[in-house]
Amino acid sequence: MSKKNKLQRFAEMEAFPHVIQADFEEVFQKDYRLKGRWAKDFFGNDKPLVLELGCGKGEYTVGLARQFPDKNFIGIDIKGARMHKGAEQALKEGLKNAAFVRTRIELIASFFGKGEVDELWLTFPDPQMNKTRKRLTSCRFLQLYAGFLKPGGLLHLKTDSRFLYSYTREVARHNKLTIVNDYDDLYHSGLEDEILGIRTYYEERFMAHNLPIKYFSFLLDHPAGLQEPEVDIPRDSYHNAGRSVKLYENDQEAPADLRE
Ligand SMILES: C[S@@+](CC[C@H](N)C(=O)[O-])C[C@H]1O[C@@H](n2cnc3c(N)ncnc32)[C@H](O)[C@@H]1O
Repeated sequence: MSKKNKLQRFAEMEAFPHVIQADFEEVFQKDYRLKGRWAKDFFGNDKPLVLELGCGKGEYTVGLARQFPDKNFIGIDIKGARMHKGAEQALKEGLKNAAFVRTRIELIASFFGKGEVDELWLTFPDPQMNKTRKRLTSCRFLQLYAGFLKPGGLLHLKTDSRFLYSYTREVARHNKLTIVNDYDDLYHSGLEDEILGIRTYYEERFMAHNLPIKYFSFLLDHPAGLQEPEVDIPRDSYHNAGRSVKLYENDQEAPADLRE
């Protein structure tokens, strides 16, 4: 994406009525003004609220908003240029139940009040194999989500990463959280439906390399005293240790456990 293009997108985002880009200063030390009031003061209704964390281009936020006019959806990501795509699409389609917040997920407690959120989607987050505390399904983050999820709120994880999928299952099992769905190869499971059939940008990329997509969902029904499981999880060899992803040129180069 060219620099100019990026700047144009940022400028447009500033004018979008359904995009919030709060200053770091605005939320670092005090709560954002819509905290606890999104349904009434922003969406103008009292419908349930669903978040997509690390939404990228916001395929789930837009796709779910289309399918469920009786719920409100907010996509959250730090990268505004990516988010622009979903924000523009929602505007084009006149989706009144979709919005976007550009912020770091670490600051999310400043945006949502106790029990304000019904469900969370984590769509292809970085597995963060080296840093448990940065992993979006670590106990540290689950504790953070528990601060604004309804009691027993539902979390959905869609991922290509066997590491992240296995780790998240261990977290759920170890903490006796209720597992709702567990599929290590979603698109060969027979479960495919309209919701799970929404494909994100990263998902398409992983699928093009024949990586099986995993879907795991669970209830955050015992959020007090969450503990990290003490297990060694085999690492994905195709994810770099940092933020980026190195995909194999063809399936035969991928680790055997990830081949079709
Ligand atoms: C691998 S991409 C997936 C994007 C999208 N969900 C998809 O499937 O195409 C991970 C996304 O999470 C965002 N992200 C990672 N860590 C974040 C953080 N701490 N706060 C906000 N966004 C974050 C990145 O900016 C990126 O857009």
